[in-house]
Amino acid sequence: MALLQTVDLKRYFGETRAVDNVNLSIEEGEFVSLVGPNGAGKTSLINVISARLTPESGKIIIKGEDITRLSVTQRVRAGIARSFQLVNVFDDLTTFDNVALAIFSREGKTAHLGTLAHLDHAVANEADAVLKQFGLAAKRGDNARDLSQGERKLLDVALAYALKPKLLFLDEPTSGVSTRDKGQIMDTIASVVRGEGITAVIVEHDMDVVFKYSDRIVVMAQGAILAQGTPDEIRKNEQVAMVLLGSSGPDAFTRKD
Ligand SMILES: Nc1ncnc2c1ncn2[C@@H]1O[C@H](COP(=O)(O)OP(=O)(O)O)[C@@H](O)[C@H]1O
Ligand SMILES: [Mg+2]
Repeated sequence: MALLQTVDLKRYFGETRAVDNVNLSIEEGEFVSLVGPNGAGKTSLINVISARLTPESGKIIIKGEDITRLSVTQRVRAGIARSFQLVNVFDDLTTFDNVALAIFSREGKTAHLGTLAHLDHAVANEADAVLKQFGLAAKRGDNARDLSQGERKLLDVALAYALKPKLLFLDEPTSGVSTRDKGQIMDTIASVVRGEGITAVIVEHDMDVVFKYSDRIVVMAQGAILAQGTPDEIRKNEQVAMVLLGSSGPDAFTRKD
């Protein structure tokens, strides 16, 4: 049984078909990349699945259970977590407190700006373990605003990860960082996700990165799934190359700009 299944999922904005009859199936343990030109509907699809947007019609099913009507919190309980295209960290809190707060929220507890975390050993230990996994241990006492862009992106992913999801959506976790940082961020994410057996769906524009890390690639255009397949299958798909790069030909994916 698929971990996630969307059935004829639809969300329009006026005339814009942001999510247009999407039937997406994700198997447990897969590392899936969601690609497509700007405006293809990738973020909207994640928003609908994670309950930030209401679908007009269609269903979202986790392990056979219809979760279409559940709230954000209930969907987190059902195992869905996501990071944001623009980071969603608390700038005025330390790196450690950001993670501790995420763990508290998962447990349904509240904390006064993280101060409680210092008193709760289980939470503190887990927060430190998460920081270590994401290579942020040395930054635990730094305010999030003082982190580099790459570290902030990793922290945002760490916050979603700290919710202990079965299914983790990462919306452009490497956007706005240098090519060198991009590789490091992806290596970190891949090692955590693979190491913990988390199913991940990642939005990424750099096709070198997509081909390197994905088990499967789903290509969206104009709100719909245009193609899906293994990196080899997608690499050979000229229609996909045209949509993604506006050019045809077999070497479209290796062209550098
Ligand atoms: N809140 C919104 N209101 C109106 N239109 C929106 C809104 N969010 C997204 N859209 C439109 O929906 C389409 C898909 O957007 P989006 O999901 O952000 O695409 P992507 O993440 O693939 O770049 C675009 O045409 C975008 O302009
Ligand atoms: Mg987007």
